[in-house]
Amino acid sequence: MRKKKDVILENIKLFGAGAKGIAIGKTEEGKTVLVSGGVPGDIVNVRVKKSKSKYFEAETTEVVKKSPFRVEPKCIHFGTCGGCKWQNMSYEKQLDFKQEEVYNNIKRIGGIDDFETLPILGAEEQYFYRNKMEFSFSNAKWLTKYEISSEENFGNRDALGFHIPGMWSKILDLKECFLQEDPSNAIRLAVKNYAVENGLDFFDVRNQEGFLRTLMMRQNSKGEWMVLFQLYREEKENREKLFEFLLEKFPQIKTLVYAINPKQNDSIYDLNVNIYFGDGFLMEEMDGLKFKIGPKSFFQTNYKQALELYRKTLEFADLKGDEVVYDLYTGTGTIAQYVARNAKHVIGIESVQEAIDAAIEHAETEWSYQYNVLLWGYEKCFQ
Ligand SMILES: C[S@@+](CC[C@H](N)C(=O)[O-])C[C@H]1O[C@@H](n2cnc3c(N)ncnc32)[C@H](O)[C@@H]1O
Repeated sequence: MRKKKDVILENIKLFGAGAKGIAIGKTEEGKTVLVSGGVPGDIVNVRVKKSKSKYFEAETTEVVKKSPFRVEPKCIHFGTCGGCKWQNMSYEKQLDFKQEEVYNNIKRIGGIDDFETLPILGAEEQYFYRNKMEFSFSNAKWLTKYEISSEENFGNRDALGFHIPGMWSKILDLKECFLQEDPSNAIRLAVKNYAVENGLDFFDVRNQEGFLRTLMMRQNSKGEWMVLFQLYREEKENREKLFEFLLEKFPQIKTLVYAINPKQNDSIYDLNVNIYFGDGFLMEEMDGLKFKIGPKSFFQTNYKQALELYRKTLEFADLKGDEVVYDLYTGTGTIAQYVARNAKHVIGIESVQEAIDAAIEHAETEWSYQYNVLLWGYEKCFQ
């Protein structure tokens, strides 16, 4: 069968940024082009991947003129990895586009015309800001073009890292990652090396077999770490040896937990989490409030920005003390507890039972008790 000829569009000027690292341009005829691999301000040649009636989806084949907003990506995996979408654009420009996106969403999707926007509050740190990361094990490592063309022998295709965007069965074997501070990289690399050296089976997602499935790490602002493994099946001796190896090497690990997951998906919410070491949770503190974070709890992944967000929420709410406040989607009750300081009554709504339990436990502090915080399950509230 004859291969279809590539459609190339030349000299497309990129002027906007959409979601997920997509830059936006237009053809001479005025048709929109959604481009991967470009930065707003670039002039690029692109290969069309999909042609729709209103727009093209395309990938950059050549940057004809570089955008002034381009910066050198920090990470060797940028472009292949799905983790960071705009590491090649200056942070100031990322903020401008984010603000524009939020504005457009409120206006177009929300259908609201008359509203005020304040300048976006950027973060001080652009790297190592995440307090939670989850990596997948796979026996089908993604091979880069360079690796394929090299003479290397790829007998062992074990990998621990992120999914390649759009490829559910392929995992990029991460050598480095700038999202979570150390020892995140050190733990991930140590686990990978230990597992390969000791012949532990990495997950085979196509055939649904193997032993090691996912590795989640989260830390609190005190530098205490939680490590959570999802294992496809129980291998008691291998599991215990791996855990002992980790606990000895990384004294920062305050708690180590695991779940056996023979399901077809990685969701942990319907799984039983077993505690191997420690209490099975971490404590976090913000402005004197305490939050208990379990393996299933949602907690904002950027601690410093979350603190800003909660302080702003309290400021904007401008409570007088006689209001009943509903904190919908309350998670571990963070916003509920913040506003409880100034409200008559707060009701947090949350669907994860463990998160509600943890929130209630710590809402019984002097502050919260005084302001009568109630945290109910979602269904209970709307029955
Ligand atoms: C993005 S988190 C926000 C948590 C919290 N407001 C914060 O800032 O930390 C969203 C939360 O909503 C919960 N959730 C999702 N769907 C829900 C539903 N239908 N009813 C109640 N809670 C839900 C999730 O379990 C999660 O804890």
